[in-house]
Amino acid sequence: MDSFTATAARMPELRASIQSHPERYRVLTGERPTGQLHLGHYVGTIRERVRLQDIGVETFVILADYQVITDRETAGAIRENVHSAVLDYLAAGLDPARTTIFTHSAVPELNQLFLPFLSLVTEAELHRNPTVKAELAASARPLNGLLLTYPVHQAADILFCKGNLVPVGKDNLPHVEITRTIARRFGDRYGRIFPEPEALVTEAPELPGLDGKKMSKSYGNAITLAMSEDETARRIRKATTDGERSIGYDPEHRPGVAALLDTAAICLARSPEDIAREVGDRGSGALKALTTEAVNEFLRPLRERRAGLHPSDVAAVLRAGNERARSIAARTLEEVRAAMGMTY
Ligand code: TRP
Repeated sequence: MDSFTATAARMPELRASIQSHPERYRVLTGERPTGQLHLGHYVGTIRERVRLQDIGVETFVILADYQVITDRETAGAIRENVHSAVLDYLAAGLDPARTTIFTHSAVPELNQLFLPFLSLVTEAELHRNPTVKAELAASARPLNGLLLTYPVHQAADILFCKGNLVPVGKDNLPHVEITRTIARRFGDRYGRIFPEPEALVTEAPELPGLDGKKMSKSYGNAITLAMSEDETARRIRKATTDGERSIGYDPEHRPGVAALLDTAAICLARSPEDIAREVGDRGSGALKALTTEAVNEFLRPLRERRAGLHPSDVAAVLRAGNERARSIAARTLEEVRAAMGMTY
């Protein structure tokens, strides 16, 4: 059994355990603030975080700003992206009293853990990471030191707070694996401080972008949470479909139509085939109208809450989250220094 199959096999048991013993878990998860969060993020991960928070799991969400510069030249609109993500989180139901929302760059003690952790992995292991390889291939730039080592930095994200549960998509499984390795090796060398965290693999299938490719802000195929209803309608109207009147669900041959059906299906909690039958021979125009209505209705409560938030709410959430993350990181770093004989 490969490690992905093993992880997948463990999920039902893990989910049951979280449900009955939420107090045993500490969740650490997050994302790179490379753009605005979209519908795919919401149904894929954000909703799940809110659910974990609400059943009583202590939750940490990192906006991994240093991870933005792994595969691009500039940090871009990082401040705006962080700000927008916090608005999305709050609107989606993350409660800063129960969930710590913070950024890499504000927690120096977390970043310091990167140093001893780097000593626990070999260059060959770093080069073997399949996600790093894929990102390198996609970035069309030479491999820089941070891209090569960011999975180790991500281990620091997880272990600084002794997170033992890491909700991630499949593409992040190699990083959870390396985190486990680092926790174990640190324990062997210096004494047990860190848990070996488990991945909680997102159940929701990945929602495609409106063109059937991966949903991404940079492809212009995403419906962001921050969009207005009109912007959403325009984005969907511009989606490429085909001239066939009869609507059917065929992701391989009709990716544009299938993407609209998938999008509507997620929002309506119905199957794409069922929606295809409902639209029948009324063509893409009718499908687009139905999808627009479905998306806007689904996101309406979130968008209304979002509109009611103030920029100062974001600043306050980040200030408190960063402060809390920092005090936890400082405590962990003290333990690490003590274990390594570096308390002076
Ligand atoms: N690599 C993750 C992504 O791009 C984001 C991330 C950074 C993360 N640090 C993390 C996810 C720690 C889980 C835990 O999706």
